[in-house]
Amino acid sequence: IMSDWTECLKFGINLTKQTSEVRELLTNQLQVHLKSSQADLVTETDLRVETILKSAIRDKYPVHRFIGEESVAAGECVELTDSPTWIIDPIDGTANFVHRFPFVAISIAFTVNKQVKAPFGIVYSCVEDKLFYAQKGRGAFLNGEPLNASGQEDISRCVVVTEIGAERDDLALSTMTSNIFRLLRIPVHGVRALGTAAVDMCQVATGGADAYYHIGMHCWDIAASSIIVQEAGGVVMDTDGSPFDMMSRRVIAASSTAVANRISQVIQAFPCRRDDED
Ligand code: IPD
Repeated sequence: IMSDWTECLKFGINLTKQTSEVRELLTNQLQVHLKSSQADLVTETDLRVETILKSAIRDKYPVHRFIGEESVAAGECVELTDSPTWIIDPIDGTANFVHRFPFVAISIAFTVNKQVKAPFGIVYSCVEDKLFYAQKGRGAFLNGEPLNASGQEDISRCVVVTEIGAERDDLALSTMTSNIFRLLRIPVHGVRALGTAAVDMCQVATGGADAYYHIGMHCWDIAASSIIVQEAGGVVMDTDGSPFDMMSRRVIAASSTAVANRISQVIQAFPCRRDDED
């Protein structure tokens, strides 16, 4: 009986490392298409990487299920069941990829029984060649070295990562900019955005950043990195202070509960349709 899913984790890590296609295609001609907005992009590479990952996993584990960014964009619904499920973002940071801004990642999380804290998560930051992974109860690692969040409890000493996001309506934009304004006014040490939610959130696991928050991303952007942050000693919650819900489109990840709570008091959310709403 494979109760801790270690074999699946090893398979996922090997598969991710073998997907050199993202790196190769960074230098190729790109076919860019628009999705939900002028700023929501998809390339042939997103579609290709998702297909490669899914077919390899399906060959090995025929009964497992998938939630994949591009399959959902193509009309599949997001449904988390009790079955073992791989949650895949083939390229997190597609706009970076298109512009050759050097942060793009493959994000793979694995869940079973709809667990809030999934058995494992893998984030491969392709250009940096950094492989982050964490397994429930067994710690978080970067290229094999253990990761520890900073433990910082004082918001005024924090570097906070967030994302501008792909939404361009007035309410989303004014909420996003005023959230950054209120944090800077505390003041925090700095606000950063790398352009990939998965890699942003992994910075909290490394201690390089002390917190991350985001409104509007999707479950595939953060499912893997939320496990990595928790296993590195950090906390995750909803932006309203309630328990983390990977389908809510809202997240705070922080080095301590004190910092997470403080951020939840300072920021506001704009309405987003849940990932699992039909
Ligand atoms: C996007 C990135 C970006 C975030 C967007 C996401 P994608 O994911 O994570 O940082 O701001 O909300 O949709 O589309 O590049 O996989």
